[in-house]
Amino acid sequence: MILKIVKYPEPVLSQPGEPVTEFNAELKRLIADMFETTYASQGVGLAAPQVGVSKRLTVIDLSMGKDPKDKLVLINPEIISSEGKLYEEEGCLSFPDISEKVVRAAKVSIRAQDEKGKWFEMDGEDLLSRCFQHEIDHLDGMLFIYRMSALKRDLTLRKIRKLQREGLW
Ligand code: NI
Repeated sequence: MILKIVKYPEPVLSQPGEPVTEFNAELKRLIADMFETTYASQGVGLAAPQVGVSKRLTVIDLSMGKDPKDKLVLINPEIISSEGKLYEEEGCLSFPDISEKVVRAAKVSIRAQDEKGKWFEMDGEDLLSRCFQHEIDHLDGMLFIYRMSALKRDLTLRKIRKLQREGLW
């Protein structure tokens, strides 16, 4: 089922998600729906707060549904180390048609649980590293506009307010 993606400034996007404690059929269904929603929106990642569920869960698929090996489910994830720096354009499904450069670590190692509750560690570089950081930020209620420079953030917020006034947001 395709879920509704909430847009900024929906309050759930700015709240830290609750840890996931039950690894049950309901969680599995939410994960399947989140992948379906990501593909329908042509995104590479989606965090539970973006579908109005304030939980520490995110799905990532850099292949956008083309390669089942790329499907990643991160539950209660944490960044355990990071190095280097990237400054690339980033977007977010909760900010349609907005993209701006943000600073991210070039390489991160994360620790997370899979959909059965098993802990695993994984490294990510470049796009995957950015995706890990962007999605884990969502679980902390942190949005990519707050990673932009103050100038870019002001311009972006102004653009959003204009779209809101025009009924286009
Ligand atoms: Ni996002």
